[in-house]
Amino acid sequence: MNQRIAFIGGGNMASAIIGGLIKQGISPSLIDVVEPLAETRDTLKSCFGLQPHAEAGDFLSSSDLVIWAVKPQIFKQVALAVAPYTAHALHLSVAAGIPSDSIARWLGCERVVRAMPNTPALIGKGISGLFARPAVTSADKDWVGQVMATTGELLWLPSEDLLDAVIAVSGSGPAYLFYLMEAMTTGGTEMGLSREQAHQLTVATFIGAGELAKASSEQPKVLRQRVTSPGGTTFAAIASMEDDDMQALLINAMYAARQRAAELTAEFGST
Ligand SMILES: NC(=O)c1ccc[n+]([C@@H]2O[C@H](COP(=O)([O-])OP(=O)(O)OC[C@H]3O[C@@H](n4cnc5c(N)ncnc54)[C@H](OP(=O)(O)O)[C@@H]3O)[C@@H](O)[C@H]2O)c1
Repeated sequence: MNQRIAFIGGGNMASAIIGGLIKQGISPSLIDVVEPLAETRDTLKSCFGLQPHAEAGDFLSSSDLVIWAVKPQIFKQVALAVAPYTAHALHLSVAAGIPSDSIARWLGCERVVRAMPNTPALIGKGISGLFARPAVTSADKDWVGQVMATTGELLWLPSEDLLDAVIAVSGSGPAYLFYLMEAMTTGGTEMGLSREQAHQLTVATFIGAGELAKASSEQPKVLRQRVTSPGGTTFAAIASMEDDDMQALLINAMYAARQRAAELTAEFGST
């Protein structure tokens, strides 16, 4: 990978990808970043040895890949400022709720890929759903795949609509699990453990269960049933959750996330 990559927005998600690229051996001199906040530019300089720019300019004309990591609310305004320099480039957007149709129109460029990563990308343990517009070549897809693989696993999707489902499952998913972790830590503390002990037990349990689910050929339902002997302690806990219909509550929450993605599209992505 000797081509130039420009990041529009140098916040959390951009930093996760930049960190992965540099770890892979990409020279910082091949990476440009447009980031208006001086403090964030300083962090990018000191962490990665980059020379970020405060605003878009001619330097973007030499970018082969432009990675969009700005909030959906400002995407259009920033796109119009960047468009004059980047119609020739391949574009990769990680912004939630901004459709590739709009991105292609704002940028005057059809080579657009959308990715939906999640926060474990920050430590290289994320998973991204990806969708490519028809004009994106298989070589383009390979390149985007190499870039996003620095943040974790990849799942290419045949239809852009499915990205909203990806948001509901894995994009927002880490927060659901943190929420469950909060509850388990609070419960453990109420039962007499120190907060540190309850936290340690909870986090190790999530990691262990996740690794077990990944290593096993069985579905989570089977893994759960195996540790739920009738009349036992886990049985009592699961029965209590089923009385409260916890799975339905969680699925409702996922629909709320997907609905919000659709609202973001209506508010910021469709004009
Ligand atoms: N974080 C996640 O887990 C996650 C997951 C999936 C997708 N995403 C998507 O990734 C995108 C970025 O999220 P993030 O968490 O990385 O947000 P973030 O940390 O707030 O980063 C966005 C960056 O864009 C900068 N920016 C603002 N105006 C700009 C402009 N005119 N030109 C260039 N850059 C500008 C912001 O600077 P200021 O600080 O000055 O505003 C900020 O540094 C969002 O669209 C989000 O939907 C994030």
